[in-house]
Amino acid sequence: IPNKINSICCIGAGYVGGPTMSVIAQKCPHIKVTVVDINEERINAWNDENLDNLPIYEPGLNQVVAEARGRNLFFSTEIEQGIKDAQMIFISVNTPTKTYGTGKGMAADLKFVELCARQIAQAANEDKIVVEKSTLPVRTAESIKRILEAEDSEHEFAILSNPEFLAEGTAIEDLHYADRMLIGGESDENGQNAIEALVDVYANWIPREKLITTSVWSSELSKLTANAFLAQRVSSINSISALCERTGADVEEVAHAIGMDSRIGSKFLKSSVGFGGSCFQKDILNLVYLCRHFGLPEVAEYWEQVVKMNDYQKHRFAKQIIDTLFNTVSGKKISFLGWAFKKDTNDTRESSAIYVAYELLQDRAEVHVYDPKVSSDQIYKDISYLQEHSSSSPYCKEKLPKDWKELLHIHKESDLCLKNSHAIAVLTEWDEFKNINWDSVYANMYKPAFIFDGRNILDREKIAKIGFEIKSIGKG
Ligand code: NAD
Ligand code: UGA
Repeated sequence: IPNKINSICCIGAGYVGGPTMSVIAQKCPHIKVTVVDINEERINAWNDENLDNLPIYEPGLNQVVAEARGRNLFFSTEIEQGIKDAQMIFISVNTPTKTYGTGKGMAADLKFVELCARQIAQAANEDKIVVEKSTLPVRTAESIKRILEAEDSEHEFAILSNPEFLAEGTAIEDLHYADRMLIGGESDENGQNAIEALVDVYANWIPREKLITTSVWSSELSKLTANAFLAQRVSSINSISALCERTGADVEEVAHAIGMDSRIGSKFLKSSVGFGGSCFQKDILNLVYLCRHFGLPEVAEYWEQVVKMNDYQKHRFAKQIIDTLFNTVSGKKISFLGWAFKKDTNDTRESSAIYVAYELLQDRAEVHVYDPKVSSDQIYKDISYLQEHSSSSPYCKEKLPKDWKELLHIHKESDLCLKNSHAIAVLTEWDEFKNINWDSVYANMYKPAFIFDGRNILDREKIAKIGFEIKSIGKG
């Protein structure tokens, strides 16, 4: 097993593989880093001379790629060659929730990971270190190892778990100044050597005391647990937001008051229209599935409630819009500010906006959307996907009317999106929404002019003074 790394290959050039490998290449000019993917369009975009065309939008990513690309950072579709040339191979492919068969709607679909293991075994020409970067169920490393050893008995493989904790929108900062870097490995000599090799890579910029090493199983489980705890905080404060709206308490005041208790802490207590993103829901459902699998139904139910509360929060928001607009939105123009699951990303996976729009379309609203980074194509795809796949949310089961595409309109400018609407809903907290000229928006709206602030970013007093009726999350 190699113990000094000078070549790395990463399978998967997505939201994790792209930024993490770019930063490794930036910080370790002595290591050749090749990121490979089956998706040729994505690889071409990573290689585009115009850095504004990279497939992922992340603040600061352009500069990192500009510094390292062509020097020691390469993007390619030559997967086999990439594996052959590298001493250490990261698996950073997608691990979505299964949409078929056993574990449908709950378990992680590991077919892409399994395929990677087979590709590695077939291409391997020497001993290799294989690193799980994707988020995986506990004990996946065991399956990867079995496949590798069964397919290739000539070479040795050490499997490490090195989950990624970056958040989208702040990926580069999170990678540069990681709270910690977790590396799980086996206790035998090969495992320990492999751990050391990866620790040495990260030690090029991350302080040693932040590099923690554990067993493979603890590392795999820590990743699912971290996401479950983070999502749980959002669901907890969102559950309280519902009570605030009934009682006249203000959820931001409550969050501030409890967050000052150092045992609770102030981060991740922002009430919202619900959490989105590719991972929270998928990872919790995966955890729930594992608990059931290991005969722990009570534990499974405990965590499942976090997802149920999130479905409820999205539904509550949509229902409030319909109820407030005199019980129907049919034929009414409802304008969405934002579609991404959070600001500073073009990622829309599991975005709350999709679910809210779906419920409004079920009621035959005319939904108009403006998002500064999301393409119109993507927005149609998101609704189509929800329409075609049975959603885990009990509130989006009903199929949309056949002509739903005619009810959905995407805009390139916020002014046109907002003009002549019956109601406006803030779905993403993009900074630019704070600078909207609300006086002129108000002048060009149906009255009463309703605003539903799903992110609590608007100045309620100022907005109300103009004449709007504003409803915010968790404010009575
Ligand atoms: P993604 O869908 O953006 O990227 C995955 C890429 O892998 C795709 O481009 C796909 O074409 C490629 N791929 C799949 N199978 C392949 C194969 N056999 N050979 C070559 N390429 C292949 O996914 P992502 O958001 O980067 O997430 C990857 C993993 O990281 C997931 O397990 C996720 O849970 C985890 N994770 C994601 C985040 C996040 O913020 N997105 C954060 C931490 C962890
Ligand atoms: C999350 C975790 O924060 C990362 O540590 C983890 O690596 C990643 O998942 C992953 O495994 O994919 P991410 O989903 O990119 O990162 O973004 P977050 O900042 O965590 O936001 C997730 C969702 O929760 C967003 O929709 C956000 O708007 C919402 N949220 C977050 C709230 O509603 N309130 C909060 O206080 C925080």
